Amino acid sequence: MKLLIDDANVNAIRRLIDLYPIDGVTTNPTILARTGGNPVETLKEIRSVIGQERLLFVQAIPLDAEGMIRDARAIVHLLGKTTVVKVPAIPEGIKAIRELKGEGIRTCGTVVYTPMQAFLAAKAGASYVAPYVNRIDNMGYDGISVTEQIHDILTVHHMDTQVLAASFKNSRQVLTLCAYGIGSATCAPDVIDGFIRNRAIDAAAEDFLSDFAKLVGEHVSMADLLS
Ligand code: G3P
Repeated sequence: MKLLIDDANVNAIRRLIDLYPIDGVTTNPTILARTGGNPVETLKEIRSVIGQERLLFVQAIPLDAEGMIRDARAIVHLLGKTTVVKVPAIPEGIKAIRELKGEGIRTCGTVVYTPMQAFLAAKAGASYVAPYVNRIDNMGYDGISVTEQIHDILTVHHMDTQVLAASFKNSRQVLTLCAYGIGSATCAPDVIDGFIRNRAIDAAAEDFLSDFAKLVGEHVSMADLLS
């Protein structure tokens, strides 16, 4: 499963990329607004921090196909071929996805709430479809099973489209979909940190350190002993 950061804060991205095997960064207009500043400068900085080999997802702003296509061309021109353009999977977006596929621009059908919406985006040629797990849960439906059903539809029809599950609020949501075999997940920094940060893990690691210090003294590593 590809793991992406759903955030535009450059310091948070730099920290997570340094620590974890991260495949890319996803943004949307709300995330960019929350980050503040000039969105073009923010996106350029993110690209420079993550390098050209990682994926960067950037959303087209207009809600008409012509405007989405114009944005998509400009986004890829600025940020390079490993940039995927997020296109809201509304009727005009499905049209834009089809045209952009013809131009060789990779897209992600976003704001996905229903399996057939994802199917349309995939059939139009989207490389990714992004179901919003937690937002679906908040509507009283089951975001996990909607996402699993989308994954099944893409698999059974041999579609060249991957699920990019989004809108997570906790590790368990990600874990369930990871175990199911979905292709990609994008998570806010605090959700990614939650995969690995808890007191039991920290205490176990610290116990090893203090036990060894009792044997050889404080701050002595294996490298120190072997040099
Ligand atoms: O990538 C889409 C995602 O940012 C939506 O998440 O937390 O706004 O529901 P959220």
